[in-house]
Amino acid sequence: MSKMLIVYYSVSNGNTRKIAEQIQQSTGADIAEIKTVQPYTGAYNDIVEQGQREVNSGYKPEIKPLSLHPEDYDVIAIGTPTWWYTMAPAVLTFLTSHDWQGKTIIPFQTHGGWPGHTIQDIQKACKGATFAHAMKIQFDSTGGSKMETSQKDVQAWIQQL
Ligand SMILES: Cc1cc2nc3c(=O)[nH]c(=O)nc-3n(C[C@H](O)[C@H](O)[C@H](O)COP(=O)(O)O)c2cc1C
Repeated sequence: MSKMLIVYYSVSNGNTRKIAEQIQQSTGADIAEIKTVQPYTGAYNDIVEQGQREVNSGYKPEIKPLSLHPEDYDVIAIGTPTWWYTMAPAVLTFLTSHDWQGKTIIPFQTHGGWPGHTIQDIQKACKGATFAHAMKIQFDSTGGSKMETSQKDVQAWIQQL
């Protein structure tokens, strides 16, 4: 059986962390969190604005070394919150600093109703990988922590992994 690693990034409410931990509990896969060297601080709206500037300029913030190495795994589930219709900049940093040749990637995103082109952008950033079971999980549109996608749908997706 393939060895799976879950890598996730989560800032606002822990929405993406919650999904990553559910996958971990059901599959027993290893799990690692992406963290920026410089934490995002300030009110939610300040981070939304900073995020917009960063996404628009293609900024890649420096991230801390990951506790586990994607090179050691065949299958990597990658979770990101949606930031301005794409992955969060820290996830772009992560994806562009590894070789994905021959790996299977399971991309998942949390969002507030505007998922944009996040999954496609993850695919573009992971050259040479194959992709399976992409998933979008919707939370409330105010940037909060209420999950709108049903737990049943999330569980059904996790069962396939
Ligand atoms: C900088 C920023 C930009 C966002 N842009 C979007 C967006 O384009 N579309 C969307 O549906 N939600 C957007 N959101 C909401 C988050 O994607 C959503 O709340 C997500 O579940 C947060 O995950 P987290 O708690 O793991 O950080 C944005 C939030 C932030 C902070």
